[in-house]
Amino acid sequence: MPDRDAWSRLQQEPPIGGLSRRRFLQLGLGATAVGLVAACSSAPSGTQAAGAVGPDSRQVRDFAAAQERRFPGGKSVAKTFVAAPTEVDVGGTRTTAWLYDGQLPGPILRANVGDRVQVRLRNELPDPTTVHWHGLAIRNDMDGVPDITQPPVGAGAEFVYEFIPPDPGTYWYHTHGDLQRGRGLYGALIVDDPRAPSGYDAEFVVVLSDWLTDRTPQQAFDRLRSGAMESAPMTSTALGGDAGDVRYPLYLLGGRPPNDPTVFTAGPGQRARLRLINASDDTAFRVALGGHRLTVTDSDGFPVEPVDTGSVLLGMGERYDALVTLQDGAFPLVAAAEGKGGQAFAVVRTGSGAAPDPSASPDELRAPPLTVADLRAAAAVRLPTRNPDVTLGASLGGTMNTYTWTINGEAYPKYTPLEVHSGERARIVYTNTTTMYHPMHLHGHTFAVARPDGTGPRKDTVIVLPGQTVATDIDTDNPGQWITHCHNDYHLAAGMATIVSYQA
Ligand code: C2O
Ligand code: CU
Repeated sequence: MPDRDAWSRLQQEPPIGGLSRRRFLQLGLGATAVGLVAACSSAPSGTQAAGAVGPDSRQVRDFAAAQERRFPGGKSVAKTFVAAPTEVDVGGTRTTAWLYDGQLPGPILRANVGDRVQVRLRNELPDPTTVHWHGLAIRNDMDGVPDITQPPVGAGAEFVYEFIPPDPGTYWYHTHGDLQRGRGLYGALIVDDPRAPSGYDAEFVVVLSDWLTDRTPQQAFDRLRSGAMESAPMTSTALGGDAGDVRYPLYLLGGRPPNDPTVFTAGPGQRARLRLINASDDTAFRVALGGHRLTVTDSDGFPVEPVDTGSVLLGMGERYDALVTLQDGAFPLVAAAEGKGGQAFAVVRTGSGAAPDPSASPDELRAPPLTVADLRAAAAVRLPTRNPDVTLGASLGGTMNTYTWTINGEAYPKYTPLEVHSGERARIVYTNTTTMYHPMHLHGHTFAVARPDGTGPRKDTVIVLPGQTVATDIDTDNPGQWITHCHNDYHLAAGMATIVSYQA
C-alpha cells in the first residue's frame, strides 16, 4: 500500500500549482518501494497486488447488474466486426490496411443510452487484438485492454463484447493492440438520448486520422527507436513545442484524402451538428469550416456551456461537437495537421458553386483555436464540489535517445499502480516534464478538469502541454483496473501508461 497519510497530507497543500516536482517524486518513490513487483517479461508487471479489484471480480459483476437495473428495457443492438487485412486505395495509393468490416474508418456504431450493445469481434488479422470503447463508462471486463481487462483475442479467434452505454454523446472505438490503430482499426461510436430534443437538421460525423502509405506504424516506431527523427522539426505554438514525432504523407477525413474528399450535404440555413473525432496516432488537428463560426457544445461527449469560435484544436482521442448554421454554397471543412503542414479536407455543400480547393486554408484557422481552457462544463454535468480523498501524481517523462516515454519514471508494461477505492473523490495530477504535448486519456470514467470554481469541463482525454500540470477529478464509481495513457500511439507503445487500480 502506498503511504496514504502522505497522499492525504498532499491535499492539505495549496492548489496543484504549488506542488513541487520533488514532492511528487518523493510520493512516487514511496509507492514504488511498496508496490513494485520486479519482472522482465513483456506482460504488464506490478500488477494485481492482493487487494486489486480484477475484471472478473464480484465488484465488476455488481456494477454491471446495477447498470442493468438502472436502464430497464434497453434494446439490444447486435453487430459483428470482422477485423481483417484489406487492400485499400487511398487517393491513388494502394496499401494493405487493417480494417473493421473492410471499411475505413470502421462502420459507425450507434445506440441509445441504456441499450444492450453486443459486438462480436472476429479476428482475421495475423496478430492478437482487442477492441476498446473509448470514453464509455462500461463494465471493466469489456474495456478491451490486453492483459489488463482480458487476454488478447488471438488470430482466428472471436470475442463477444457486451456493454451498456450510460451517457449520450460522441465516442469512438479502436483496437488497443500495439501500433495497430494507425493501420485503420477505428470508427465512430455515437450514443443518442432518445428523450433529448436533437436541435439540429443535419449531422456530419468527422473522423480525422493520419495515414502512412510507404511504411507501417511499427516500421515508423522502429525507426524512432533506432534514434532517427524526421528531418524537419515540427513545432506549434498552440501545442507549446514539439507537434509530433512522425510526418505523414496523408491526412484523412472520413478515411478519404483531400483529392478524393467526403462531401457532406444539407440545406442552406440548416443547423448542422459536427461530431469531430481525432482518431490519429501522432497528429493534433485544428479544425474550421470556411465562412462559418462554430458553436462548441460538447467535449468528449459531455455538454459544455456553448462557446463560439472560428476553429478548435483536437489532440489524439479528443472529440468536440459543434453546431453551425450553414450558408448557401460549397465550403471547405479543413482539419490542418497542427505544426506539420498538410491537412485533412471535406466539402460541405448546401447549394451550387464550384467545389473549394483541397488546399484551401480558411481565415478561421488564423486566430488561436479554442482549447479546453475556454470551456466550462454545463451545469447539469458538473462534478459536485468535494475535496479529494486521494491525490495521485502522474509525472510524464521521456528519454529521447532510447525513445522511451514514461509515467512516474516507469515504462509500461512496467508500472506502479495508482491506487483508489470505491466511493472516493480521486484527483489524478498529470505533470508534463517533457518538451512535447501529451493527450492523456483515462479509461472507464469521464473526469472533470479540476478548477477551483468547479467549472472544469468533463472529458476523458486532455492535452497536457510541455511544462504544464493538469489535475483531473473522478468519482470512483466504476470498480476495476483502468489504464491511463498518452493517446499518441507511439508514446503508448514506448511506455507512457499506468493503471488506476481499484482496491478492495
Ligand atoms: Cu482511446 Cu486506451 O484509448
Ligand atoms: Cu505522449
